[in-house]
Amino acid sequence: MVDKVLVTGGAGFIGSHLVDRLMNEGFGVVVLDDFSGGKRENLSSHLGEPNFCLVEGDVRNEADVKSALEGVNAVFHLAATVSVDLSVKNPLLVNEVNVGGTLNVLRESVRADVKRFVYASSCAVYGEPAHVPISEDHPTKPTSPYGVSKLAAEHYCKVFCEVYGLETVCLRFFNVYGPRQSMGPYSGVISQFIEQLKRGKPPVIFGDGTQTRDFVHVDDVVAGALCALNSEECVGNVINVGSGKETSIKKLADILITLFGVQGIKPRCSTPRAGDISRSCADLSKAERLLEYKPRLSLKKGLKQMLIEQVKHENVSEG
Ligand SMILES: NC(=O)c1ccc[n+]([C@@H]2O[C@H](COP(=O)([O-])OP(=O)(O)OC[C@H]3O[C@@H](n4cnc5c(N)ncnc54)[C@H](O)[C@@H]3O)[C@@H](O)[C@H]2O)c1
Repeated sequence: MVDKVLVTGGAGFIGSHLVDRLMNEGFGVVVLDDFSGGKRENLSSHLGEPNFCLVEGDVRNEADVKSALEGVNAVFHLAATVSVDLSVKNPLLVNEVNVGGTLNVLRESVRADVKRFVYASSCAVYGEPAHVPISEDHPTKPTSPYGVSKLAAEHYCKVFCEVYGLETVCLRFFNVYGPRQSMGPYSGVISQFIEQLKRGKPPVIFGDGTQTRDFVHVDDVVAGALCALNSEECVGNVINVGSGKETSIKKLADILITLFGVQGIKPRCSTPRAGDISRSCADLSKAERLLEYKPRLSLKKGLKQMLIEQVKHENVSEG
C-alpha cells in the first residue's frame, strides 16, 4: 500500500497543488526541490507538519535523491527546467536536469524499492500536430530542446518499467493554468495576459491569435495524477492529461478582458514567435479508459476562480 510519496518539484506551480491534495488525502509527503523555480511560500501551510518533509536539493544529485526517497513507496517526478525559451538558450542545462535528473530519480527509485513512479511529461513531445485532437499514438516531433528532453525522459520511464519492473506512468500535461503559476518573461500566455491586463495594457498576442491550445486547470491535472497513482491499468503507458477543448489565443484574450471588466481594451497582435505550433488539443479517450479521468473545470470557470484566488492572495500579502 502506498502511504508515503515523494514529489520532486513540489515547491513549483503544479507540484505544490499536488502536495496540497496529497496532504489532504492523508499521505506522508516528501518534497525535493532546489527552489530554482519553486517558492517556499507555496508550501508554507505544510512546513512543520509531522507527515511533511522538505528536502532542499537537486534531482541530479544522488545523495539528495537517496535521502528524499527514505521510506517512500511512490514518486511524482515533476522537477524540471520548464521554459521552452530557456531550453533554446541553454539546451545543455535542460538536458542535464530534465533527462539526467529523471534518470537519477528513476535509478534511485529502483534502489529504494519504490512501487509507482508518475512522470510529468508534456504535450511538447508532439510538436506541430498533423491533426487534432491529438492521441498518444500521434507521431512525436518536438520542436524545442525542452520537448526533446521530456520525450527522452519518457523513454527512460518506459525502459525502467520493462527492464526493472518500476511501475512508471507518463502523463502528458497540456497547457496547465491556475493559482501560483509563475509570472515573468518565461511564463505561459495566461500569466502574461493577466499581468498585462493588471497594468491596464492590452494583451499582446504573438501572431494573429487563431493558434489554439488546450488549457487545463491545475486541479484537473492533480486529479489525473492521483488517478495514475491508483489505477493498475495505466502502468507502462503514456497518457494525455488536458481539457479536451481547443481554444484560440484570441478567444482566451477576450475571456480575460471580459473577466477583468475593462472597457475599450482590445488584444494587440505582434510578430509570431518562431517554433510556436498552430493548434493543440488533447484526445482524452485513453485517460478516460485507463484513469477514469474527466476534467471538471471549464476555461471560463477556471480562470474566474484563478483571478479570485489571486486577489485574495494579494490582499493577504499586502495586509
Ligand atoms: N505548466 C505547464 O503547463 C506544464 C505543461 C506540461 C508539462 N509540465 C511539466 O510539469 C512539471 C511541473 O511544471 P510547473 O509548471 O509546475 O513548473 P515549475 O517551474 O513551477 O515547477 C518545477 C519545479 O522543479 C524545481 N526544480 C527545477 N530544477 C530542479 C532540480 N535540478 N532539482 C530539484 N528541483 C528542481 C523548481 O524549483 C520548481 O519548483 C514539469 O516537469 C513540467 O515539464 C508543465
